[in-house]
Amino acid sequence: MDLTAKIRIDETKHHALEEKIFGHFIEHLGWCIRNGIWDERKLARPFEFGRVRRDVFDAMAALRPPVIRWPGGCFSDTYHWRDGVGPARDRRLALNRAWFWLSPPETIFENNHFGTDEFIELCRRLGAEPYINVNFGAASAREAAEWVEYCNAAPGAPMSDLRAEYGHPEPYNVKIWGIANEIWGIHERGWCPTGDIYARRYLRFHRAMKAADESISCVAVGGNRTFPNWNRRFLELAAGETDYLSLHEYAPGPAAFHAGLLGYPDTKDAYYTMIAGADMFEESLLWFRETLADAAGEDTPIKIAFDEWNAWWKNSQLLRADDFTLRDGLLVACTLGRFIRHSNIIGMANLAQFVNTVGLILTWPDCIVLTPSYLAFKLYRDYSFGRALDACAESETVAVKSMGAVAANPKMPLVDSSATLDEKTGAVSVFAVNKHFDEPVSLRISFNKFAPAAEAETHTLASESAFDKNTPESPDTVRVASAKIKTGKTETSITLPPHSVTCVVFKKQQRKKK
Ligand code: AHR
Repeated sequence: MDLTAKIRIDETKHHALEEKIFGHFIEHLGWCIRNGIWDERKLARPFEFGRVRRDVFDAMAALRPPVIRWPGGCFSDTYHWRDGVGPARDRRLALNRAWFWLSPPETIFENNHFGTDEFIELCRRLGAEPYINVNFGAASAREAAEWVEYCNAAPGAPMSDLRAEYGHPEPYNVKIWGIANEIWGIHERGWCPTGDIYARRYLRFHRAMKAADESISCVAVGGNRTFPNWNRRFLELAAGETDYLSLHEYAPGPAAFHAGLLGYPDTKDAYYTMIAGADMFEESLLWFRETLADAAGEDTPIKIAFDEWNAWWKNSQLLRADDFTLRDGLLVACTLGRFIRHSNIIGMANLAQFVNTVGLILTWPDCIVLTPSYLAFKLYRDYSFGRALDACAESETVAVKSMGAVAANPKMPLVDSSATLDEKTGAVSVFAVNKHFDEPVSLRISFNKFAPAAEAETHTLASESAFDKNTPESPDTVRVASAKIKTGKTETSITLPPHSVTCVVFKKQQRKKK
């Protein structure tokens, strides 16, 4: 079967690309922070600072994270920030109340050696904006406000004096603060059964935190389609005091697999279902945006924080997701493409999570591995320029079966595309994902008036099998290959390998000087 597809891009229609769609998330869960980013074991590895492994740091830095969320997740609704500041020897060893039940022995108790000051240092060195999620589930509004004061007040207030005493006189100016995590869920400490119950307590937190620093922005917990009335009931009371409303989605989600006891099947059907997760994320996003507009008005300034999203199907992936394959990288690619397309309605998105825990980067004591998801993320991060273009591909379709949170779809397009424009240089980058399990697709790309230079670059993430992955023994099985291609006068043709992600970077043709 000869599969074809085409993308026609009108480069005159574009909107600003929100850089924070490339955000990340780290949590005191599994080996994400302990024995992932922050490692106190005897290792023959250099450290960037404290016990932050340099190899992990460098891999994080290569993604130029615009924003990082911390300390959770579910962990945040159990975390007392005072446990994690001051001299390391005096920090409290505390049961990880959110995650002890699935933790490896060394992380059942949190030693709190990676706390606020270390998180801020990490963000500063990475050039990322810190986003702190306060404890709403098991702490008071006052405790949250004191954390804001610790981070943002000039010396002279009790908490900022404490910060100065611990060696950090300059305020950290943390601007983004989350108030609770997934608080609609019975799994969450401090569970609120309805949006209005949450709103009443949220407002107490919000007012106390704003009194500590008027300039902060707050992220409130939003509800996805499982909780259809949550956003309305919350916003009726708190729309005027919310800057972001958060949305979380995982594909196909752990509930589908009996709390994650089973693996994900390496079958063609399950492969397509995983990638269709991007359609589920997009539908959820558009539905969420509608609930926001219905409750707070079309022109609401409240932004969407899609602050947890990824593939996830079993609990062992919360320790280290060493079963992520190219298939899961394709999900990441398709999702980032949707975020580019809808970046006019998303204020921030944070992939869950950065290291080990459903992670992009996997660590072992003597090496790290970059997953196909990491490589896909890097491709979009490297070649997404400042403006988002409309670039819908026309392609053949395939039927998708439902599984977990992903719905059946008799006609999923085989090619997913997105594009961006660099207004300064005029360069256009076109991303195309060939989702076909085992067939290549011939793709033709054309523009409205844009005249590309005679040569373009391609960067392709591919491997022999969609189920290939990178491991310590074979870290480059799935990799990105770059090449130069000749562009056509009216259109440019390329072949997309099966189960692959390609980015074509077109430079603008230079006008000849007369
Ligand atoms: O990312 C793992 C967990 O998934 C987070 O702690 C929680 O918010 C979500 O359920």
